[in-house]
Amino acid sequence: MLKNIKPANLKKGMFAVLPGSWLSHSFLKNRFLITSEDQIKKIIASGLGEVMIDTQKGYDFNEEVEHISHGEEKEATPVKWEPEKVVSKDFKEAINSREMAPEKKAEVIYNYSLGIMKDLFESPKAENIKEVKNAVYDIVNLVLSEDETPACLLKITNHDFYTYTHSVNVGVLSISLAKVLLKDQQGSHNMEELGAGFFLHDLGKVNIDASVLNKPGRLDDDEMKHMRTHPYQGYKILKETGQLNEEIRVIAMQHHERDDGTGYPLGLKGDEIHTYGRICCIADVFDALTAKRSYKPSLSPFEALKIMKEQMLGHFSEKIFQNFVLLFK
Ligand SMILES: [Fe+2]
Repeated sequence: MLKNIKPANLKKGMFAVLPGSWLSHSFLKNRFLITSEDQIKKIIASGLGEVMIDTQKGYDFNEEVEHISHGEEKEATPVKWEPEKVVSKDFKEAINSREMAPEKKAEVIYNYSLGIMKDLFESPKAENIKEVKNAVYDIVNLVLSEDETPACLLKITNHDFYTYTHSVNVGVLSISLAKVLLKDQQGSHNMEELGAGFFLHDLGKVNIDASVLNKPGRLDDDEMKHMRTHPYQGYKILKETGQLNEEIRVIAMQHHERDDGTGYPLGLKGDEIHTYGRICCIADVFDALTAKRSYKPSLSPFEALKIMKEQMLGHFSEKIFQNFVLLFK
Protein backbone atom coordinates (compact mmCIF):
# COMPACT_ATOMS: atom_id res chain seq x y z
CA MET A 1 0.00 0.00 0.00
CA LEU A 2 1.24 3.47 -0.82
CA LYS A 3 1.14 6.02 1.97
CA ASN A 4 2.03 9.71 2.08
CA ILE A 5 4.25 10.77 4.96
CA LYS A 6 6.43 13.72 5.88
CA PRO A 7 10.11 13.28 4.93
CA ALA A 8 11.06 13.85 8.58
CA ASN A 9 9.18 10.66 9.48
CA LEU A 10 11.19 8.48 7.12
CA LYS A 11 13.21 5.66 8.62
CA LYS A 12 15.74 3.15 7.38
CA GLY A 13 13.86 0.07 6.15
CA MET A 14 11.03 2.10 4.58
CA PHE A 15 10.57 1.82 0.83
CA ALA A 16 10.48 5.31 -0.70
CA VAL A 17 8.46 6.15 -3.80
CA LEU A 18 9.53 9.61 -4.97
CA PRO A 19 7.87 11.81 -7.61
CA GLY A 20 8.61 10.81 -11.20
CA SER A 21 10.71 13.83 -12.14
CA TRP A 22 14.34 13.64 -11.10
CA LEU A 23 14.34 17.43 -11.04
CA SER A 24 12.49 17.28 -7.72
CA HIS A 25 15.13 15.13 -6.04
CA SER A 26 18.71 14.01 -6.52
CA PHE A 27 18.21 10.26 -6.72
CA LEU A 28 18.78 8.22 -9.85
CA LYS A 29 15.87 5.96 -9.02
CA ASN A 30 12.39 6.94 -7.88
CA ARG A 31 11.68 3.78 -5.94
CA PHE A 32 14.14 2.29 -3.47
CA LEU A 33 14.58 0.83 -0.03
CA ILE A 34 16.02 3.38 2.38
CA THR A 35 19.19 1.89 3.80
CA SER A 36 20.99 4.92 5.24
CA GLU A 37 20.42 8.12 7.19
CA ASP A 38 22.17 9.93 4.34
CA GLN A 39 19.37 9.03 1.95
CA ILE A 40 16.83 10.41 4.44
CA LYS A 41 18.82 13.65 4.81
CA LYS A 42 18.93 14.01 1.01
CA ILE A 43 15.17 13.53 0.72
CA ILE A 44 14.53 16.09 3.46
CA ALA A 45 16.97 18.50 1.78
CA SER A 46 15.15 18.15 -1.55
CA GLY A 47 12.30 20.16 0.01
CA LEU A 48 9.49 17.75 -0.87
CA GLY A 49 6.49 18.39 1.42
CA GLU A 50 5.46 14.75 1.46
CA VAL A 51 6.82 11.52 0.08
CA MET A 52 5.17 8.20 -0.53
CA ILE A 53 6.26 4.95 1.05
CA ASP A 54 5.28 1.48 -0.14
CA THR A 55 4.31 -0.43 3.01
CA GLN A 56 4.33 -3.78 1.17
CA LYS A 57 8.01 -3.43 0.45
CA GLY A 58 9.31 -1.78 3.59
CA TYR A 59 8.45 -0.65 7.09
CA ASP A 60 5.11 1.01 7.64
CA PHE A 61 4.63 4.34 9.39
CA ASN A 62 2.05 4.51 12.13
CA GLU A 63 1.46 8.05 13.32
CA GLU A 64 -0.15 7.06 16.64
CA VAL A 65 2.58 4.61 17.56
CA GLU A 66 5.23 7.11 16.58
CA HIS A 67 3.55 9.74 18.74
CA ILE A 68 3.26 7.50 21.82
CA SER A 69 6.76 6.10 21.53
CA HIS A 70 8.35 9.44 20.73
CA GLY A 71 11.74 9.59 22.41
CA GLU A 72 11.93 5.84 23.07
CA GLU A 73 14.03 3.53 21.01
CA LYS A 74 11.30 1.53 19.38
CA GLU A 75 11.40 -0.13 16.02
CA ALA A 76 8.41 0.11 13.70
CA THR A 77 6.74 -3.24 13.06
CA PRO A 78 8.60 -4.75 10.15
CA VAL A 79 6.54 -5.59 7.12
CA LYS A 80 7.88 -8.29 4.90
CA TRP A 81 9.18 -6.71 1.73
CA GLU A 82 9.95 -8.32 -1.56
CA PRO A 83 13.35 -7.68 -3.08
CA GLU A 84 12.81 -5.88 -6.36
CA LYS A 85 12.24 -8.74 -8.76
CA VAL A 86 15.29 -9.29 -10.87
CA VAL A 87 15.03 -12.31 -13.15
CA SER A 88 17.77 -14.67 -14.16
CA LYS A 89 18.03 -13.06 -17.62
CA ASP A 90 18.76 -9.60 -16.11
CA PHE A 91 21.27 -11.18 -13.77
CA LYS A 92 23.12 -12.98 -16.60
CA GLU A 93 23.10 -9.78 -18.63
CA ALA A 94 24.61 -7.82 -15.74
CA ILE A 95 27.22 -10.48 -15.02
CA ASN A 96 28.36 -10.58 -18.64
CA SER A 97 28.02 -6.90 -19.50
CA ARG A 98 31.14 -4.90 -20.20
CA GLU A 99 29.23 -1.64 -20.60
CA MET A 100 27.01 -1.60 -17.52
CA ALA A 101 28.26 0.72 -14.75
CA PRO A 102 29.69 -1.23 -11.77
CA GLU A 103 27.11 0.37 -9.40
CA LYS A 104 24.22 -0.80 -11.57
CA LYS A 105 25.79 -4.21 -12.09
CA ALA A 106 26.21 -4.64 -8.34
CA GLU A 107 22.62 -3.59 -7.72
CA VAL A 108 21.20 -6.14 -10.18
CA ILE A 109 23.42 -8.91 -8.81
CA TYR A 110 22.56 -8.03 -5.21
CA ASN A 111 18.81 -7.89 -5.77
CA TYR A 112 18.81 -11.12 -7.76
CA SER A 113 20.78 -12.81 -4.96
CA LEU A 114 18.28 -11.57 -2.39
CA GLY A 115 15.39 -12.95 -4.45
CA ILE A 116 16.83 -16.44 -4.88
CA MET A 117 18.02 -16.69 -1.27
CA LYS A 118 14.55 -15.64 -0.14
CA ASP A 119 13.01 -18.41 -2.30
CA LEU A 120 15.47 -20.88 -0.83
CA PHE A 121 14.65 -20.02 2.78
CA GLU A 122 10.94 -20.23 2.03
CA SER A 123 11.35 -23.52 0.22
CA PRO A 124 14.70 -25.24 0.84
CA LYS A 125 14.40 -27.78 -1.96
CA ALA A 126 17.27 -29.11 -4.09
CA GLU A 127 16.09 -27.10 -7.11
CA ASN A 128 16.39 -23.81 -5.18
CA ILE A 129 19.78 -24.79 -3.75
CA LYS A 130 20.91 -25.47 -7.32
CA GLU A 131 19.69 -22.06 -8.49
CA VAL A 132 21.63 -20.38 -5.67
CA LYS A 133 24.74 -22.38 -6.46
CA ASN A 134 24.62 -21.48 -10.16
CA ALA A 135 24.24 -17.77 -9.40
CA VAL A 136 26.99 -17.88 -6.80
CA TYR A 137 29.38 -19.54 -9.27
CA ASP A 138 28.85 -16.55 -11.58
CA ILE A 139 29.27 -14.08 -8.70
CA VAL A 140 32.49 -15.76 -7.56
CA ASN A 141 33.94 -15.59 -11.07
CA LEU A 142 33.03 -11.93 -11.29
CA VAL A 143 34.60 -11.18 -7.90
CA LEU A 144 37.76 -13.00 -8.93
CA SER A 145 38.01 -11.30 -12.31
CA GLU A 146 37.43 -7.65 -11.44
CA ASP A 147 37.55 -5.22 -8.53
CA GLU A 148 35.04 -2.44 -9.18
CA THR A 149 31.74 -4.35 -9.05
CA PRO A 150 32.77 -6.30 -5.91
CA ALA A 151 33.68 -2.97 -4.25
CA CYS A 152 30.18 -1.67 -5.08
CA LEU A 153 28.62 -4.91 -3.81
CA LEU A 154 30.33 -4.37 -0.46
CA LYS A 155 28.85 -0.87 -0.26
CA ILE A 156 25.21 -1.59 -1.11
CA THR A 157 24.51 -4.31 1.43
CA ASN A 158 21.17 -3.84 3.17
CA HIS A 159 21.01 -4.06 6.94
CA ASP A 160 17.56 -5.47 7.65
CA PHE A 161 17.18 -8.58 9.77
CA TYR A 162 16.10 -11.17 7.24
CA THR A 163 18.15 -14.34 7.07
CA TYR A 164 18.29 -14.17 3.29
CA THR A 165 19.73 -10.64 3.38
CA HIS A 166 22.29 -11.73 5.97
CA SER A 167 23.20 -14.75 3.82
CA VAL A 168 23.84 -12.61 0.76
CA ASN A 169 25.87 -10.06 2.75
CA VAL A 170 28.00 -12.75 4.42
CA GLY A 171 28.40 -14.51 1.05
CA VAL A 172 29.66 -11.36 -0.67
CA LEU A 173 31.95 -10.38 2.23
CA SER A 174 33.39 -13.87 2.59
CA ILE A 175 34.11 -14.34 -1.11
CA SER A 176 35.84 -10.95 -1.20
CA LEU A 177 37.91 -11.92 1.83
CA ALA A 178 38.75 -15.35 0.39
CA LYS A 179 39.89 -13.65 -2.82
CA VAL A 180 42.63 -11.69 -1.04
CA LEU A 181 43.47 -14.31 1.54
CA LEU A 182 43.81 -17.24 -0.85
CA LYS A 183 45.07 -15.28 -3.86
CA ASP A 184 48.33 -17.21 -4.17
CA GLN A 185 46.68 -20.57 -3.80
CA GLN A 186 43.39 -20.21 -5.66
CA GLY A 187 44.32 -23.25 -7.74
CA SER A 188 44.13 -25.47 -4.69
CA HIS A 189 40.70 -24.21 -3.61
CA ASN A 190 37.41 -24.71 -5.40
CA MET A 191 36.44 -21.05 -5.22
CA GLU A 192 32.99 -21.54 -6.78
CA GLU A 193 31.99 -24.23 -4.30
CA LEU A 194 33.53 -22.17 -1.53
CA GLY A 195 31.35 -19.19 -2.49
CA ALA A 196 28.26 -21.43 -2.41
CA GLY A 197 29.31 -22.63 1.05
CA PHE A 198 29.45 -19.02 2.28
CA PHE A 199 26.03 -18.13 0.84
CA LEU A 200 24.53 -21.28 2.40
CA HIS A 201 26.23 -20.96 5.80
CA ASP A 202 22.95 -20.25 7.63
CA LEU A 203 20.79 -22.76 5.76
CA GLY A 204 20.13 -24.55 9.05
CA LYS A 205 17.91 -21.64 10.07
CA VAL A 206 15.15 -23.20 7.94
CA ASN A 207 14.74 -25.63 10.87
CA ILE A 208 14.55 -22.90 13.52
CA ASP A 209 11.07 -21.92 14.71
CA ALA A 210 9.92 -18.68 13.09
CA SER A 211 8.95 -17.31 16.53
CA VAL A 212 12.61 -17.61 17.62
CA LEU A 213 14.13 -16.60 14.31
CA ASN A 214 12.02 -13.45 14.02
CA LYS A 215 11.81 -12.54 17.71
CA PRO A 216 12.31 -8.78 17.88
CA GLY A 217 14.05 -8.83 21.29
CA ARG A 218 16.89 -10.84 22.80
CA LEU A 219 16.47 -14.62 23.01
CA ASP A 220 15.97 -16.35 26.38
CA ASP A 221 18.13 -19.37 27.33
CA ASP A 222 15.90 -22.03 25.76
CA GLU A 223 15.44 -20.01 22.59
CA MET A 224 19.19 -19.46 22.37
CA LYS A 225 19.78 -23.19 22.80
CA HIS A 226 17.39 -23.88 19.93
CA MET A 227 18.95 -21.17 17.74
CA ARG A 228 22.40 -22.59 18.39
CA THR A 229 21.44 -25.85 16.71
CA HIS A 230 21.42 -24.15 13.29
CA PRO A 231 25.10 -24.81 12.41
CA TYR A 232 24.59 -28.55 12.78
CA GLN A 233 21.17 -28.43 11.11
CA GLY A 234 22.68 -26.66 8.10
CA TYR A 235 25.54 -29.13 7.86
CA LYS A 236 23.03 -32.00 8.06
CA ILE A 237 20.79 -30.63 5.29
CA LEU A 238 23.77 -30.11 2.98
CA LYS A 239 25.08 -33.59 3.73
CA GLU A 240 21.72 -35.31 3.34
CA THR A 241 20.98 -33.56 0.07
CA GLY A 242 24.51 -34.30 -1.20
CA GLN A 243 25.32 -30.59 -1.66
CA LEU A 244 28.89 -29.31 -1.59
CA ASN A 245 31.84 -31.39 -0.46
CA GLU A 246 32.68 -32.20 3.15
CA GLU A 247 35.40 -29.55 3.45
CA ILE A 248 32.95 -26.84 2.38
CA ARG A 249 29.99 -28.14 4.37
CA VAL A 250 32.18 -27.43 7.40
CA ILE A 251 31.44 -23.70 6.89
CA ALA A 252 27.85 -24.26 8.01
CA MET A 253 29.08 -26.24 11.00
CA GLN A 254 31.89 -23.92 12.11
CA HIS A 255 30.86 -20.35 11.35
CA HIS A 256 30.03 -19.68 15.02
CA GLU A 257 33.24 -21.17 16.42
CA ARG A 258 35.62 -18.60 17.90
CA ASP A 259 39.41 -18.60 17.89
CA ASP A 260 39.61 -18.49 21.70
CA GLY A 261 37.27 -21.46 22.09
CA THR A 262 34.23 -19.46 23.22
CA GLY A 263 32.11 -20.30 20.17
CA TYR A 264 29.67 -23.10 19.41
CA PRO A 265 28.69 -25.86 18.72
CA LEU A 266 31.99 -27.55 19.64
CA GLY A 267 34.07 -24.78 21.26
CA LEU A 268 36.92 -25.41 18.81
CA LYS A 269 40.07 -23.27 19.10
CA GLY A 270 42.50 -21.66 16.64
CA ASP A 271 43.66 -24.03 13.93
CA GLU A 272 41.05 -26.59 14.92
CA ILE A 273 38.69 -24.31 13.00
CA HIS A 274 39.00 -24.59 9.21
CA THR A 275 40.17 -21.44 7.41
CA TYR A 276 36.83 -21.41 5.54
CA GLY A 277 34.95 -21.39 8.86
CA ARG A 278 37.22 -18.64 10.21
CA ILE A 279 36.61 -16.46 7.14
CA CYS A 280 32.86 -16.89 7.41
CA CYS A 281 32.92 -16.19 11.16
CA ILE A 282 34.44 -12.72 10.64
CA ALA A 283 31.98 -11.82 7.88
CA ASP A 284 29.11 -13.14 9.99
CA VAL A 285 30.02 -11.07 13.07
CA PHE A 286 30.57 -7.95 10.97
CA ASP A 287 27.18 -8.28 9.28
CA ALA A 288 25.47 -8.95 12.61
CA LEU A 289 26.98 -5.74 14.04
CA THR A 290 26.00 -3.63 11.04
CA ALA A 291 22.44 -5.03 11.01
CA LYS A 292 19.71 -3.16 12.81
CA ARG A 293 17.74 -5.04 15.44
CA SER A 294 15.08 -3.72 17.77
CA TYR A 295 17.45 -4.05 20.74
CA LYS A 296 20.45 -2.46 19.07
CA PRO A 297 21.18 0.21 16.51
CA SER A 298 22.92 -0.59 13.27
CA LEU A 299 26.64 0.26 13.35
CA SER A 300 28.59 1.79 10.49
CA PRO A 301 31.31 -0.45 8.97
CA PHE A 302 33.93 1.67 10.77
CA GLU A 303 32.21 1.31 14.15
CA ALA A 304 31.74 -2.43 13.64
CA LEU A 305 35.41 -2.96 12.76
CA LYS A 306 36.46 -0.88 15.77
CA ILE A 307 34.41 -3.05 18.15
CA MET A 308 35.73 -6.21 16.53
CA LYS A 309 39.30 -4.97 16.95
CA GLU A 310 38.98 -3.60 20.48
CA GLN A 311 36.57 -6.02 22.10
CA MET A 312 36.49 -9.21 20.06
CA LEU A 313 39.93 -9.78 18.65
CA GLY A 314 40.36 -13.05 20.56
CA HIS A 315 37.45 -14.38 18.55
CA PHE A 316 39.23 -14.22 15.22
CA SER A 317 42.43 -15.17 13.49
CA GLU A 318 44.43 -11.93 13.58
CA LYS A 319 45.81 -12.41 10.08
CA ILE A 320 42.38 -13.03 8.57
CA PHE A 321 40.93 -10.07 10.46
CA GLN A 322 43.69 -7.74 9.17
CA ASN A 323 42.88 -8.78 5.61
CA PHE A 324 39.18 -8.24 6.27
CA VAL A 325 39.79 -4.67 7.46
CA LEU A 326 41.62 -3.93 4.21
CA LEU A 327 38.43 -4.66 2.23
CA PHE A 328 37.06 -1.35 3.54
CA LYS A 329 40.06 0.87 2.96
FE1 LIG B 1 24.72 -18.49 11.78
